[in-house]
Amino acid sequence: MTNKLGSSNPNRIPKQKDKKLKKINLDKQKKIYDLIKHALEAQKNSQSEFSNFAVGCSLLCDDDTIIYGTNIESAVYPSTLCAERVAIYSALSQGHTKFKAIAIVSDNGAKPCGSCRQIIHEYLKNIPIYISDSIGKNYSIHYINELLPHPFG
Ligand code: THU
Repeated sequence: MTNKLGSSNPNRIPKQKDKKLKKINLDKQKKIYDLIKHALEAQKNSQSEFSNFAVGCSLLCDDDTIIYGTNIESAVYPSTLCAERVAIYSALSQGHTKFKAIAIVSDNGAKPCGSCRQIIHEYLKNIPIYISDSIGKNYSIHYINELLPHPFG
């Protein structure tokens, strides 16, 4: 396609004439929303009476099992554990070692903390990380090599 000046526009999104391609993308989109819905379910179980900041997480394993995690707070504040690590440690404890994607939700769509980024780097590798607010419609996609550049280990 050319613009008024006759040069091609590199930002143009090609129209998807191929129906198969369209279906693949819609299926992918649906899978992402489904995973986010699971994270929203997990968020309902949050034990966050101290911060009032509920986080939910759903981890998609390579056999399509979905493991939930939510933040669990303690009166002894440092004993609190984030939703992401609860999900990852639970999945590993149940024998899952390969993962396809993770969804994380919180009221403001917060990004994972530093400790969670380290554990994501070590155990999930470079899978898509879908981060959404609690409405579940506006998500962003991240990868750990962007969230944790120059990692240790
Ligand atoms: N929290 C998470 O669950 N994940 C993060 O990546 C950041 C923080 C939780 C921990 C605590 O229960 C609350 O959010 C406030 O820090």
